[in-house]
Amino acid sequence: MFPTERPRRLRRTPALRRLVGETSLEPRHLVLPMFVADGLDEPREISSMPGVVQHTLDSLRRAAAEAVDAGVGGLMLFGVPRDEDKDPSGASGIAPDGILNRGLRALSSELGDTTVLMADTCLDEFTDHGHCGVLDSNGAVDNDATLARYAEMALAQADAGAHLLGPSGMMDGQVGVIRAALDAAGHTDVGQLAYSAKYASAFYGPFREAVGSSLQGDRRTYQQNPANRRESLHEVDLDLAEGADMVMVKPAMSYLDVLREVADRSTVPVAAYQISGEYAMITAAAANGWIDRDAAVLESLTSIRRAGADIVLTYWATEAAGWLRR
Ligand code: PBG
Repeated sequence: MFPTERPRRLRRTPALRRLVGETSLEPRHLVLPMFVADGLDEPREISSMPGVVQHTLDSLRRAAAEAVDAGVGGLMLFGVPRDEDKDPSGASGIAPDGILNRGLRALSSELGDTTVLMADTCLDEFTDHGHCGVLDSNGAVDNDATLARYAEMALAQADAGAHLLGPSGMMDGQVGVIRAALDAAGHTDVGQLAYSAKYASAFYGPFREAVGSSLQGDRRTYQQNPANRRESLHEVDLDLAEGADMVMVKPAMSYLDVLREVADRSTVPVAAYQISGEYAMITAAAANGWIDRDAAVLESLTSIRRAGADIVLTYWATEAAGWLRR
């Protein structure tokens, strides 16, 4: 008799498939990235990310409350300053009354400890050249001068109520410098979700519109080469040694192999960021009637979990959490 092994037996009914499912996806696994913009009267659509907006402080509060009601695990906030507030050093990203810190304060007073409030700790939205750090006299991103700015930015975000900071600039030593600054200021309980393995990806395209980026050129002197795998393990080791409380791989879907290896190696929770281009691709294909949107979203999120992510940052967090609760 052939075949003697019949894996299809366990796929026969929905109940059987449910019983033997290896990977779960729950609302608490999802983190919603959000954009708050300065000088808006009403939320502004991001054309390359249909369904995602730049928020006003008011709409930010409402959307955050809705996400928390839907059961998401946390929120990750990005600030979008007015063009005239950008400068070479990204000062408006650090100022306590800059839009990102105002947004954090608004969310912190609205939500307290009922969710996990995270902040992007990076200067690119706030610099007039669009790079993640300050430049030296040759126009190159100056690693160590940038670290000093990140330390200030971290303190401002901790003061504004962030539970976790997300250093995303890929400067060497950023996690250690931020940890030391937080500890010295008494913020020993504020943690870091370190963007440890972050690649120089074409899939960040729509994010540039989302934050009104001024970037000319690319980030290849600080973000990683998509060709490299081993380098990510090195980056994770360094961030863990410097005190990262969680590590992240970004983007997600083109880097599931890296995510798996990081997950196997990490002694702290691992996150993956399903980025703007991943959102845009699925949204565009679905809008053309080429794929089933909701099924594709859930499959993508499940795949990222299967590859080893404890936590998934996704622009679908609120919506997917709603589906999962039903
Ligand atoms: C840097 C940052 C970026 C993203 C998150 N943090 C942009 C970049 O590195 O170029 C991209 C997120 C996305 O594409 O959804 N502050």
